Amino acid sequence: MLHLAAPTDPGWFDRIEDDLHLVLVDHAHLEKRAASTALSMIFRYTGRPDLPMTLSPIVREEMRHFEQMLGILAERGIELIRLEAADYATTLVGKVRKQEPQRLLDRLIVAALIEARSAERFKILSERVKDAPLAAYYGQLFESEARHYTVYTDLARRYFGHDAVKTRLDELASAEVEALQSTTKQARLHSW
Ligand SMILES: [Fe+2]
Ligand SMILES: [Fe+2]
Repeated sequence: MLHLAAPTDPGWFDRIEDDLHLVLVDHAHLEKRAASTALSMIFRYTGRPDLPMTLSPIVREEMRHFEQMLGILAERGIELIRLEAADYATTLVGKVRKQEPQRLLDRLIVAALIEARSAERFKILSERVKDAPLAAYYGQLFESEARHYTVYTDLARRYFGHDAVKTRLDELASAEVEALQSTTKQARLHSW
């Protein structure tokens, strides 16, 4: 189960449909960022049992998704332009506490929530996008990002225990919905 405090607003797809190319570009950047998040945790938390071995395959998988997205953009004649960082990620990363070990707990939970929201939106895209190959791709991607949510929350429970994870997951899941609501300016994978 994806622990999201609220489902995506039913109007999201209608709001982004005309700018789907921007959402695809945003999504390509997001895959690269997901790989970078996992890799940076491997660098930072080398001594944590199982963390490098658990997150290394995620780095590879996210980079494979990035390459698949580059193919999807190229086939549709869409350029991988630079996009302004969405308020969503900036707001959420801002909630991560500075002090260890709370910092690790928060980083794992924020990563899990971004995976969960991405998975939920990929499901919506798989059901609503008219481009059939793209819709099929989003159907597959839903499953892998939902699994990544579990990988991050399982690691968090291993280090911090069930109760601490539940408390912080509840808090950060509410912050995640607020972060979505603040991302209204442009069509993004994580826009309102
Ligand atoms: Fe991914
Ligand atoms: Fe992922």
